[in-house]
Amino acid sequence: MSNKVELIRRIEELKREKGVVILAHYYTRPEVQQVADFLGDSLALSVKARDIEAKTILFAGVHFMGETAKVLSPEKQVLIPVAEATCSLAESCPVEEFAAFKAQHPEALVVSYVNTTVGIKALTDICCTSSNALQVVESVPVEQPIIFGPDKNLGSYIRKITGRENMILWNGACHVHEKFSKEGVVALKAQHPEAKVVVHPECRGEVADLADYCGSTAGILSYCGASDCDTFIVVTEPGILAEMERMYPQKKFIPAPSIEGKSCNECEYMKMITLENIISCLENESPEIELDEEIRKKASKSIEAMVKIG
Ligand code: 13P
Ligand code: SF4
Repeated sequence: MSNKVELIRRIEELKREKGVVILAHYYTRPEVQQVADFLGDSLALSVKARDIEAKTILFAGVHFMGETAKVLSPEKQVLIPVAEATCSLAESCPVEEFAAFKAQHPEALVVSYVNTTVGIKALTDICCTSSNALQVVESVPVEQPIIFGPDKNLGSYIRKITGRENMILWNGACHVHEKFSKEGVVALKAQHPEAKVVVHPECRGEVADLADYCGSTAGILSYCGASDCDTFIVVTEPGILAEMERMYPQKKFIPAPSIEGKSCNECEYMKMITLENIISCLENESPEIELDEEIRKKASKSIEAMVKIG
């Protein structure tokens, strides 16, 4: 029996023994996706974490995702395999600096992308994900100024499609999505003129402008399924290819290269999660997410406000 099969068997045994449900994001390693009870984008996983009946959730994803699960389900034990698996976008928005920025615009309502620490969510009126950012912004009266953080690329994209000049953007970004280049996508499109280009809105505007579809990981998956086309240039973290190939085995998915010329562009934080550290986390019930109750309650209001919108 291979080592991988043995590791997966051990995880299944521990899950049963301890009543644990594993949630995993599409950017995790294919073998991690294999042991997940639910696989999804950040919005679907937040909702699942809240609604699922389980004593313990193991979140195979980056730290803010585990925090979001704990905010919505304080009564559940939330485990994360690697406490150091952070997110460059969440890290690009420190709480004290964001609080000072907010104080400079007291008239503005704060909309924050879910890729933030719990401290930022506590300073936020409505959270959003890339699945629902447009709906969230459109739910705010047009005359109401908005601070949008932390992703300047998602913010610019939403500002462009809504035409809302009164969106004040925080200057944050994801180091993975910023590394996709216009030239790389144009060159791939020249080689595969029949392909549709699917882009995550965390990419820079000049890359998003090349998209046939621009949206969240879940949105991209649905678009690829509904499209008549059978070849796609995928401009997001390549972990999603495993699910694309599982869902649409007859279609072809080509990862876009990074500006450094690498054939794809991986999130090293998502890739920190392995079968080995999932086992260790299940055995030791650690690392576990623990939050200050006052901050959790404030953060919960902004996430629940998002979940109500959709
Ligand atoms: P989704 O909201 O599309 O799942 O994206 C999460 C993420 O981390 C993108 O980099
Ligand atoms: Fe964060 Fe970017 Fe990794 Fe997503 S891909 S988890 S935004 S660093």
